Amino acid sequence: MNIIKVKDNPEAGIVASKKIAEMIKNNPNIVLGLATGSTPITTNVKAFNLDEYKGIDGNHDQSYKFFMKETLFDHVNINKNNCHIPSGHTNNNEEAAKYDEEIKKAGGIDLQLLGLGVNGHVGFNEPGASFDSITSIVDLTESTIEVNSRFFENKKDVPTQAISMGLKTIANAKEILLIATGKNKAEAVKHLVNGPVTTE
Ligand code: F6R
Repeated sequence: MNIIKVKDNPEAGIVASKKIAEMIKNNPNIVLGLATGSTPITTNVKAFNLDEYKGIDGNHDQSYKFFMKETLFDHVNINKNNCHIPSGHTNNNEEAAKYDEEIKKAGGIDLQLLGLGVNGHVGFNEPGASFDSITSIVDLTESTIEVNSRFFENKKDVPTQAISMGLKTIANAKEILLIATGKNKAEAVKHLVNGPVTTE
């Protein structure tokens, strides 16, 4: 694990962007694993987003599909057929698992970008998720619903489930870049860096 300490969130953005840009320059056919976020990418690049709320349409302004279009895909010359996001209409885990097959077909993820939940989640893998998990339908914890309710008009509008890459899907990436900034992430980062490796 390579820990990069930065001053603040804007500096984290610069360091992460430089890393991604360097990897794209070295490999124009790179396969990126993305979190909802924004980074300039070019043609040939393939992207697989981590997760999507279940039961939400791609046109909903809080869907991660909408977020990716608004903040990145509509602004760069990426082939839209290369942009993958789990469908919010995924009905069962058999369908969800096909996402892992698509990633494999693309040659696996070269660089996976991750955020970190206040409770330590990555993707929507809440504490306790299995290290063997692949893309599946997951339940959101009350604390994640609470934290994410800031983006919705009403807390009751926050979906209670999501389709998320599993911990195994994420760990299969050749490189992982996790960005965590702000005091509310300090506790989770402390455990990530100093604690034992557990599913928490
Ligand atoms: C987003 C995702 C989540 C977020 C995490 C942190 O695709 O999978 O794990 O990365 O909830 O969110 P922010 O950056 O809003 O604190």
